Amino acid sequence: MIYLNGSFLPLEQARIPVLDRGFIFGDGIYEVIPVYSRQPFRLAEHLSRLERSLAGIRLPNPHSAAEWAVKITELIAHNPWEDQSVYLHITRGVAKRDHAFPQNTPPTVMMISSPLAAPAPEHLARGVSAVTAVDNRWLRCDIKAISLLPNVLLRQQAVDAGAVEAILLRDGMLTEGAASNVFVVRNGILLAPPKSHLMLPGITYDVVLELAATIPHEVRPLTETELRGAHEIWLTSSTREITPVTRLDGQPVGAGEPGPLFRRMHGLYQEFKAAVMRGGAGTSGG
Ligand code: PDD
Repeated sequence: MIYLNGSFLPLEQARIPVLDRGFIFGDGIYEVIPVYSRQPFRLAEHLSRLERSLAGIRLPNPHSAAEWAVKITELIAHNPWEDQSVYLHITRGVAKRDHAFPQNTPPTVMMISSPLAAPAPEHLARGVSAVTAVDNRWLRCDIKAISLLPNVLLRQQAVDAGAVEAILLRDGMLTEGAASNVFVVRNGILLAPPKSHLMLPGITYDVVLELAATIPHEVRPLTETELRGAHEIWLTSSTREITPVTRLDGQPVGAGEPGPLFRRMHGLYQEFKAAVMRGGAGTSGG
């Protein structure tokens, strides 16, 4: 069952007019919220990022956070899986094709849930391969826009090279992955690029930094040289949690296997998730 403009209906019955600005221009915003044991994880944080993304494209939020929470809870209940990935998608609605904003046009609001698979055990045990690529996206990567053509091309570039993710470099500096944030470990210190207009402020990124309170860490710009000389590299996202990268551009990362800090953080993350799920909501403060 999916949600479309106020109603729940089977996916096969859902229809979007061809003039929807999401279809024509990629003019919209999305979110992906992980749901564990039928409870959305970090819901408040996802909804506030949604609010910021909408403000970033000057699209009024059609619902309050409380209304979204009700709709998301209903969507979860309509679907059979314990762990779900809830995808929220809002476009600037249906209007005659014209780049400028249409007047008095209601947005299109859509939500789809799909089963959320835990990260593959072999990825956690052995790590994954990534390639580097030039970050050729626009300068508002902090907005979670549905226009994802550069991300699609970058991810495919990785897949064509037998890798799972493209790690992006802009002007010699690490930004993020095609659909993930990137952490680096050097000499026992966890390093992460600071939030800016050049990367998506990941919800998982925030959780990892909170859990790093007892681990030496620095949030600062990271160079390509630091990335290439890393002892560990991790990818983070709501659907992949924390995934160790053990090959970069065909070369081993550190010892070529998931590192000690990854194992520690993976453990902390699983404990945190379990604690939050026992306690309810999954918002900050845990
Ligand atoms: N992507 N950076 C980019 C470009 C992303 O697309 C994502 C997530 C992230 C990680 O953000 P978070 O931890 O909040 O999931 C970083 C989602 C999962 C997607 O597009 O499917």
